[in-house]
Amino acid sequence: MFSNTFRSIQKRLLNTKRPPGPSQLELLQESSRSSFLEFLSLGSSNLMRKYGDIIRLPNNQYLICSPEVFKYVLKTNVNNFSKVNMTYNRLKLIFGDGLITNEGPVWEQHRAILHPVFDRLKLEQYAPLMVKTTTEWMARWDQYLPSYIDISKEMGELTLRIAFRAFSNYEPSAHDLKTVTVLFKRGNPHISYAPLLKPWFPTPNNLLFFRSLRQLNKLLEKIIAQRRHSGNHFNDVIDILLNGKQTNNAPLSEFEILNEYKTLLITGYETTGCGLAWAYYLLATHPEYQIKMQEELVTVLKGRPPTIHDCTQLPITKAIFLETLRLYPSIWCLPRTVLQADTISGYPISAKSTLILNIYALHRNPLYWESPNVFYPPRFLNDAETKRHLFSYLPFSIGAHSCIGSIFGVMEGILLLATIGQKFSFEIVKKNKKYAAEPYVSLRLPASLKMRLVPLT
Ligand code: HEM
Repeated sequence: MFSNTFRSIQKRLLNTKRPPGPSQLELLQESSRSSFLEFLSLGSSNLMRKYGDIIRLPNNQYLICSPEVFKYVLKTNVNNFSKVNMTYNRLKLIFGDGLITNEGPVWEQHRAILHPVFDRLKLEQYAPLMVKTTTEWMARWDQYLPSYIDISKEMGELTLRIAFRAFSNYEPSAHDLKTVTVLFKRGNPHISYAPLLKPWFPTPNNLLFFRSLRQLNKLLEKIIAQRRHSGNHFNDVIDILLNGKQTNNAPLSEFEILNEYKTLLITGYETTGCGLAWAYYLLATHPEYQIKMQEELVTVLKGRPPTIHDCTQLPITKAIFLETLRLYPSIWCLPRTVLQADTISGYPISAKSTLILNIYALHRNPLYWESPNVFYPPRFLNDAETKRHLFSYLPFSIGAHSCIGSIFGVMEGILLLATIGQKFSFEIVKKNKKYAAEPYVSLRLPASLKMRLVPLT
């Protein structure tokens, strides 16, 4: 009787209490001690140990690194958490109302229209195209021997070429590749540090960003118009969008086609490109896994190019890519706006609050991962995943807005590692230098990281 009353008072108190969080001074101390990313990972872990699953920050913001809260926000009560916030508003500058930025009935219709882009039959067609494009790409690398390559640029341009070919049967020039990659490079700080950089302010970065955006829109409009007038059909993204019908049977508008094509092209290359660049960084700093992967490739492939069927036959290669996405998730943070007052982890959260779903910290949460900062691919071998919390590993998010291209992305990661790994290994030029990730919308390797290609004999 007494304990029941005590519990109900405790529950009522919890329901009226705001989640705990660090003082301004403590925040300042944490953030001044390390880089922003270290603050969000190590700092988050420290704060989590001290304050629990949901950490109150200034300005009605809450930092989240707990699997249960990820599940609640992205799945259980997903309709109460919106993408309408500063980050997605800035992303709209690039994508307009594409899948990544949109919500509601229009998003639902477009997602259904684009679903066939990733069906089994199409994935079987993409696989040989990925391997062929990579083989052609590697032929250029002889010119870099014995000097070095910028691994982020190489992986970004390679995955972009694959996306252009797969989604629009288009052969991009070097200038086309540069237009897109410069756009995202310039757009990254533009989006990530939105409060500091007003889009209209004519900084050199902003001017370059808008110039690249105009050039890209022009290029994509030209590709779409050529297809429309050519009468050719490839059953690719462009055809699917040109033939797409909404529930009222109306075709998609010019704008909608452009935005969805641009969305798949950019999300499709930047994420996998970043993941692969990080994979090579990790392999170069952990040569024992580079050797293990090469041994697997020799045993399974015996010198032939990999196929889609090999994706299940190369567990070490796959584990290396998945572990890379754990340590360096390409999209590392998902901001969500609370629509109606809610209760999260027992605490009341008011409407209009911002939840910062920190995937980077979730993947390094010491409550769910042993030695969380260590690169250890065997975590993804022999069904180890089945023993973990279902929501402790979310590189592709979960729920209705989870990644539409996740199978494409993982397949591309494995096939590129397997194709390149039969010809080259990688070394870091400046081994003793510390390289910190650049936490923009995507998690980038610093451009200063140069790698040496070592041809396998
Ligand atoms: C390693 C590769 C990839 C990673 C780590 C990744 C990660 C993610 C994440 C975390 C989200 C949720 C974003 C949010 O809620 O705002 C997302 C959504 C999305 N991704 Fe990916 N992605 C990858 C590959 C791809 C590829 C290859 C494509 C397309 C070809 C793609 C297209 C999209 C799209 C269109 C969405 C928005 C989905 C929606 O809201 O309906 N992604 N991705």
